[in-house]
Amino acid sequence: MTERQITTKIHFCTLDELSDTEKKLLEAAKEAAETAYAPYSRFQVGAAVLLDNGEVVKGSNQENAAYPSGLCAERVAMFYANATWPKAAITHLAVAAKNGKAFINLPIAPCGACRQSLLEAEHRQGSPIKVLLYGAGETACIESVKALLPLSFDESFLNE
Ligand code: THU
Repeated sequence: MTERQITTKIHFCTLDELSDTEKKLLEAAKEAAETAYAPYSRFQVGAAVLLDNGEVVKGSNQENAAYPSGLCAERVAMFYANATWPKAAITHLAVAAKNGKAFINLPIAPCGACRQSLLEAEHRQGSPIKVLLYGAGETACIESVKALLPLSFDESFLNE
């Protein structure tokens, strides 16, 4: 048996370490959290995507009484962006989440299905998506979706 260490690099930063564009995108994600439809979990998530054409697309989680029919904020924003500007690349994604009245302290961690969908977007456009995960205490800044999903499945396996 062999053991391999798979490492991933994630930076944790304070707001003043971010560029003005990144700060604005985080604000957009926080605003988007207010539009969540989350009557079941009461967990409000907002996402904001920045495209290389300068457009910002916001999304929030949309729940359903039939629970799996709902969708996370990240995919609402990303799918709308890709459907509206299919040729534009996503340069950044910012995410923020509220549990009740306040934004959570730890950086919000996207679910596995969102990570998988984001990875596909990164492969499709051929350039990295910088991910900013807001926490009231600290924000995680990740240079590429690849860092969020080690040992990932992608289209290359389909031709193995
Ligand atoms: N949720 C998101 O929208 N994004 C995340 O990164 C984590 C979870 C949503 C799904 C569901 O509506 C609620 O938060 C509780 O899981």
